[in-house]
Amino acid sequence: MPSSTQPLDMSRSRVFGGVAEIYDAARAGYPDALVSTVLHYAALEGDRPVLEAGAGTGKATVPFAAALTAPLTCVEPDARMAEVLRRNTTPHPHVTITVSPFEDFRPGDTRYGLFLCATAWHWFDPDRRWNLVHDALTPGGAVALFWNPMGVRDPDLHAALAEVDRRHGLTNTPHAALASAYGDTPGHWPGMLGHWPAVDCAHDPRFTDLRSLRFREDTHYDTAHYLDHLSSVSLYAALPAHRRAQALADTADVVTAHGGRLPVTRCHDLFLARRRT
Ligand SMILES: C[S@@+](CC[C@H](N)C(=O)[O-])C[C@H]1O[C@@H](n2cnc3c(N)ncnc32)[C@H](O)[C@@H]1O
Repeated sequence: MPSSTQPLDMSRSRVFGGVAEIYDAARAGYPDALVSTVLHYAALEGDRPVLEAGAGTGKATVPFAAALTAPLTCVEPDARMAEVLRRNTTPHPHVTITVSPFEDFRPGDTRYGLFLCATAWHWFDPDRRWNLVHDALTPGGAVALFWNPMGVRDPDLHAALAEVDRRHGLTNTPHAALASAYGDTPGHWPGMLGHWPAVDCAHDPRFTDLRSLRFREDTHYDTAHYLDHLSSVSLYAALPAHRRAQALADTADVVTAHGGRLPVTRCHDLFLARRRT
């Protein structure tokens, strides 16, 4: 979920295919502790199937597929993302891929024991997504929605990057927040108001056992890796080529001037809920 108090430009949901390979190479994945927490919570019975929507190139799919024996169905609307996903899941024959928006996916007679969504829930129709998940799950089935926003650890570097963003008219870039601005509460991100899924779900009597968890990780990017990361972000991918090139070049200059290293804290924030029986 992009950290924003402004409405999300939904047309940006369709830009990922144009940067599929760079996305796969540069984007962070999700920690093993998140995967095991989700599977422990879901407590899948037998080989009850699992559904993932907005699977992208498989950043979450691959670790879940490795930990599961149950069939895992991935729904991904972009054929170019799905092609990389197919390549990444070749060692996992229990993964099947459906190229479709989640809103058009029909589960048929299958009822899933777990619904997964990594960094994609914000792209689904907000008026339909909870109904679609409810209808796809078996009673007692689990929902796991997660994102991995980050904050910049060095205040001077943060200020210099903010100046580049201001010059280019960019808001809510991945480096827009200071690491210290993240509190301890999962789903509370700087500048974000009311978008955490617990806010909707708390008023939906069809779901119960709501939990929010945070897995925190300190890491860093070098300049080239950070530019690739930014290139895979919809805000940048949707810019006209000359504006994108200029913004990336100016950002690179700032990171290079700070020793070519961008230290960040990444928060892997996880929301869990369960369909009532
Ligand atoms: C930021 S990427 C996340 C990909 C992957 N889950 C990950 O964690 O790296 C968002 C993905 O959601 C997909 N997406 C966008 N709109 C969608 C929709 N309506 N239904 C299903 N997936 C959608 C995009 O094509 C893209 O692959």
